[in-house]
Amino acid sequence: MIGKKMLDALNEQINAELYSAYLYQAMAAHFATGNLKGFAHWMDLQAKEEQAHARKMYEFLLDRGGRVTLKAIAAPPAEWKSPLQIFEESYAHEQKVTGLIHKLVDLARAENDHAAEVFLAWFVSEQVEEEANASEIVEKLKMVKDHTQGLLMMDANLGQRA
Ligand code: FEO
Repeated sequence: MIGKKMLDALNEQINAELYSAYLYQAMAAHFATGNLKGFAHWMDLQAKEEQAHARKMYEFLLDRGGRVTLKAIAAPPAEWKSPLQIFEESYAHEQKVTGLIHKLVDLARAENDHAAEVFLAWFVSEQVEEEANASEIVEKLKMVKDHTQGLLMMDANLGQRA
């Protein structure tokens, strides 16, 4: 049976993961509207990954005899000035999520919840990848600047994400 502090914190994190999904879905819609279908595809998959993160936590809580409590998901922004701004925000968002995951690990240790600590190790590694992916795209967009051809090449490339 999971302790109350860990249970509440993981229920909060389910909400944070679902907000991430909502944020990336809004970004995908923005790209799709702007005819950058490759960028939109990349963000669509990112939104799905976030749903899967929330689901992993949901299953973990149920397996530990905890009650899943779903809370309201805040509305994400709908407008951005440029693809660079979108990816800078997405990178900053992932850095924030990394901080949240690290706090959960700290709590699991403080509570001597070994199962939660092992479970969260997957998310610690996942965040390294999430940050690296967003940061790489930010740096490429900085190289591309306002060159349409470069942007379209990136769009084709991101559209290949499986
Ligand atoms: Fe669920 Fe992008 O971290």
